[in-house]
Amino acid sequence: MTTSKNFYITTPIYYVNGDPHLGHVYTTTATDVIARFKRLGGYDVHFLTGTDEHGQKVAQSAEKAGVSPQNFCDQIAQKFIDVLEPFQITNDDFIRTTDDRHKQTCQTLWKTLEEAGDIYLDKYAGWYAVRDEAYYGEDELSDGPDADTKIAPSGAECKWVAEESYFFRLSNYGDKLLELYERNPDFIGPKSSLNEIKSFVEGGLKDLSISRTTFDWGVPVPGNENHVMYVWIDALTNYISALGYGNNEANLMDKFWPADCHIVGKEITRFHAIYWPAFLMSAKLSVPKRVFANGWWVVEGEKMSKSIGNVITPETLLDTYGSDGSRYALLREMPFGNDGNFSHENAVNRINGDLANGLGNLAQRSLSMIAKNCDGKIPANNGLSPDDQVLLDLTYALPNQTEDFIDSMQIHKYLDAVWHVVGEANAYIDVQAPWKLKKEDPDRMQTVLYVLSEVIRCCAIMAQPIIPTGANKILDQIAIEEGARTFAFINIKNALKSGVELPAPQGVFPRLELITKEAA
Ligand code: MSP
Repeated sequence: MTTSKNFYITTPIYYVNGDPHLGHVYTTTATDVIARFKRLGGYDVHFLTGTDEHGQKVAQSAEKAGVSPQNFCDQIAQKFIDVLEPFQITNDDFIRTTDDRHKQTCQTLWKTLEEAGDIYLDKYAGWYAVRDEAYYGEDELSDGPDADTKIAPSGAECKWVAEESYFFRLSNYGDKLLELYERNPDFIGPKSSLNEIKSFVEGGLKDLSISRTTFDWGVPVPGNENHVMYVWIDALTNYISALGYGNNEANLMDKFWPADCHIVGKEITRFHAIYWPAFLMSAKLSVPKRVFANGWWVVEGEKMSKSIGNVITPETLLDTYGSDGSRYALLREMPFGNDGNFSHENAVNRINGDLANGLGNLAQRSLSMIAKNCDGKIPANNGLSPDDQVLLDLTYALPNQTEDFIDSMQIHKYLDAVWHVVGEANAYIDVQAPWKLKKEDPDRMQTVLYVLSEVIRCCAIMAQPIIPTGANKILDQIAIEEGARTFAFINIKNALKSGVELPAPQGVFPRLELITKEAA
C-alpha cells in the first residue's frame, strides 16, 4: 500500500567520546514513541538516529585511549548501536558521520553554500570550548583558573584560538530567521526555547567559523586540504546525508524532507534552530518543520557525572526495570520539554502503580474471569448499559485525542490519556462487580467482561508505542491478529467478536521490589 502520509523524525547524533547513558536512552526512546505512534496512525515513518564522530574532543579521547580515531569511533558507535535493540528502538537508519555517504553530502553541501556566496576565507580569533565544540563571545564568559582559560555558561573551559578559518555568512540570515520564527511559531518548542533563541538572534548574529586547521579528524574542506569542517556543520548535515542528499545513496529527500521534527536536548537547540536553517536556506532547501527540545534529567537531585558516580547506564536501566519499565518510567516521570529528577523510588512506584496495578491488573483480573467463567472465549455482548457506553466512548476517542498531544509534543499527556481510561476501567470493574453477577445475572456478567476485553484491546493498541512488549503480550492474550493492532481498529466497527477462543491468561507486568540503598 502506498501512502502520502510521510513522517521524518530524528534524534541528535550522539558524541562518541563517552558511553551511552540514561540521557541518550531518554531522547531516543521519546523519539521512538513518536515514530511508533505515527506508524500506528498510518504514516510512512523514517526514524533516524546515529553518532557524531568527528571533532577535536573525539580526537583527544582517542588519543587518551591510545587508539586511532576511527578505531575509537568504531568501538563507541557500536555501543550506541547495541543499546537500540534491547530498548526496542525502531529506527529505520543509523547514520555515522564517518560513513562515506555522509562525508560526500557534507562536501556537496559545502560547495553549494560556497556557490551561493556564503563562504569566505579569513582568520578566526576567539574563545573555543572543546567540550561543547562551540565558540563563545567574550561577553558570555567568566574568568577561569588562569589567564589562558575562560569558563563558558555551560561550565566548559574555553581556550583562545587564532587560526585561518572559513566563515559562513550567518550575519546575512538574522532577519530571515526571525521571519521564520514569526511565521511559524511551532518551529521551535517548547516556548521557553523559542524565546531564548529569538532573543539570541535579535541580539545580532556574527559570521560563523566553519573550519579548523589545528587537527585533522573531520571532513576535509573541498579544495583546501589544510582545513577540516567544523564539527557542527558536519553533524547537522547528517539529517540530509541519511536521505541521500548529494551522495550516491538512494534519494529519499523528495519523500521525507523537510523533516517533521528534530528532537534535540535543550543545550543544542541553538545549533538546530539558528545554524541549521541558515545553512539550508543558503542551499535553497526547505527548513525542518520543527525543532523540539527535551529537558534534562538529574539523578536523585544531582547532575549525572562520572566523578559523582551517579551515571545511570543503559544496562542498569534494563536490569532494574526491563525495557518496558524503563520506557514507561522515563516518559511518565516528566512532562516532555521540562527538566526532571530521576529517582529509583519514583520509577518503581510508577511501574508498580501504572503497569502492574493499572494495566496489568486490569488485564489479569478480566482475562482470568473470562478463562474461568466464559469457557476461555470472548464473552457475549448482551446489550450495552449507559455505563458501558460511556466507558467505550471514552476508549474509542483515544486515537484522535492523543494524536493532538503527540503533534504538540506533549508525550506525557498521551500517556495520561491512555492511563486515565485504564483507571476508569479498573473503577468500572469494582462498580459492576462481575464476580457478583456470576450468580445474580450471568448474561450481564458476560457483557461486563465483553466491555472490559474491548477496553483492554484498545488500551493495549494505544500503549504499544510506549510499552511495546507488554502491550503486545496483552494483545496476544485476546487473540488480536498482528495486522489489527493499529489505531484504525479502535472503533465499534472492529470491536471484538464474541466466541473467539483465547489462550490461557498470564501476568504481564511483574511488581518490582523497591531496593533501598540500605538493603542493597
Ligand atoms: N553530537 C551532538 C549533537 C549533534 S546533532 C546534529 C551532541 N551529542 S551528545 O552526545 O552530547 O548528546 C546530546 C543529547 O543527549 C542531548 O541533546 C540530549 O538529547 C541527550 N541527553 C544527554 N544527557 C541528557 C540528560 N541528562 N537528560 C536528558 N537528555 C540528555 O550534543
